[in-house]
Amino acid sequence: MAKSALLKSSLAKKYWMALTGLFLCLFLTGHLLGNLQLLSTGENAALHFNQYALFMTTNPAVKVLSYLTYISIIFHAIDGIILTVQNKKARPINYVMNRPGKNTIWASRNMAVLGTVILVFIVTHMVSFWARMHFDKDMPLQTVTITAGGMPQEFYLTTDGGYVPKGQVLQGAVVIKNRTEFYDAAANVKIKEGYKDLYKITVAFFKDAKLGLVYTILYVISMVVLGFHLFHGFGSAFQSLGANNPKYNGLIKNFGKAFAIVVPLLFAVIPVFIHFILK
Ligand code: HEM
Repeated sequence: MAKSALLKSSLAKKYWMALTGLFLCLFLTGHLLGNLQLLSTGENAALHFNQYALFMTTNPAVKVLSYLTYISIIFHAIDGIILTVQNKKARPINYVMNRPGKNTIWASRNMAVLGTVILVFIVTHMVSFWARMHFDKDMPLQTVTITAGGMPQEFYLTTDGGYVPKGQVLQGAVVIKNRTEFYDAAANVKIKEGYKDLYKITVAFFKDAKLGLVYTILYVISMVVLGFHLFHGFGSAFQSLGANNPKYNGLIKNFGKAFAIVVPLLFAVIPVFIHFILK
């Protein structure tokens, strides 16, 4: 390939890396705001989180954003790998003459390694939560225990604010179809809809007697890695997009650094809180 074409294509790749990277920063902000609800200890914490999860998995506009997120993750990762390989080929003497430590910070020279760790995190993270929410036939539905006349009874909570007695389902008067819908068994008509208990599986994950601590530590380490990746990536994305105005350069750099520290830190607080503090 001619050198100019290589340059051109790697410039285009950097541009797309920047665009997808910044979009993923928007996703991270939204995802963090939603997940911060897990820090609530209120009586209705589980219900509010499950209502939020239902909205996020069924609202058509959010669905479009979700697909854009998946595409951005794949694109950002593939583009990053290709750029790293191209850079290595274009610079075979590999930093013998210059002293990288003097010119660039550690994160900027290790973006590919940091990115790979984050990709492994995202894939395993999605298997643990997203795949269960979307595909697990045995995903639990949210229940509540109500005591009347000294007799505790368990009910499924429904999206219209009502309840379906769990015993009724067991006795076969009502059946659960399509994972959340309650049907009248005799008439075969839909009565109500329940909530998938994403709150329960998220808390159980980090509170797991055997592996909860390991997961918590792995999540915290992943958030440190994410912080380093964002620390370089945020400012670099604006450069790749050609934003170079002396008036705003300092502001963008400082905002990027604050984002890279605050967002992963708040994400890391969530598993630590669930594992060590939540009763
Ligand atoms: C550490 C705290 C975090 C918690 C407790 C958490 C929790 C969750 C849960 C419960 C889901 C399933 C929700 C659903 O399917 O709608 C989910 C989905 C997801 N998470 Fe996280 N997450 C965390 C951090 C992260 C981070 C740091 C990233 C990215 C680097 C990430 C990327 C994703 C993605 C891409 C999805 C799928 C989203 C979608 O379908 O729109 N998560 N997360």
